[in-house]
Amino acid sequence: MLDRKIEDLKILFTQEQIEQKTKELADEINKDFGTKNELVLICVLKGSTMFCCNLAKYLKMPVEMEFIRVSSYGNAKTSSGNVQAIDLTLPNLEDKNVLIVEDIIDTGCTMEFLINILCRTHKPKKLKVVTFLNKKMARKVDIEPDYYGFVIDDKFVVGYGLDYEGYMRNLPYIGYFE
Ligand code: IMP
Ligand code: MG
Repeated sequence: MLDRKIEDLKILFTQEQIEQKTKELADEINKDFGTKNELVLICVLKGSTMFCCNLAKYLKMPVEMEFIRVSSYGNAKTSSGNVQAIDLTLPNLEDKNVLIVEDIIDTGCTMEFLINILCRTHKPKKLKVVTFLNKKMARKVDIEPDYYGFVIDDKFVVGYGLDYEGYMRNLPYIGYFE
């Protein structure tokens, strides 16, 4: 049984705000990458699924979608900083434009881990990072995304792909517990 109820959530970003911001991010990415060259989106499972699929709808270049899975939380509410690779299977990305798509950057440990692996073993032409939420204050390593939707305080948030003990990813808004 979950000890938290959806009814107790305070809304941080509504579905409308999320949609608007996702479109704005896609516009920026379209402008930077151009509409001609292919772009490989790397969706970091499981949290980024909603954001990644939503973002992809508004991208204008030919898009490939790849999915990798890492875990740093387990079921805890604070990042362990200990990133676990669950599935990093990717095609050849050499000389491709690549965009890592994250739901949230918290300590930055996951992103640092991913950037290191991608640069070292895949040698993409261009590698950028987009995250929907940016918990700037919680950073433990020196990593900043190229694009982000919103900077948020160091609160535990759920919805739009983000979970609490595996649940609440399906909420169309983003909320937090007080
Ligand atoms: P980091 O390695 O500490 O930057 O954490 C990255 C991952 O932890 C994210 O991709 C999320 O999946 C998860 N995470 C961080 N903060 C939250 C939160 O507030 N709610 C839900 N998941 C979170
Ligand atoms: Mg994530």
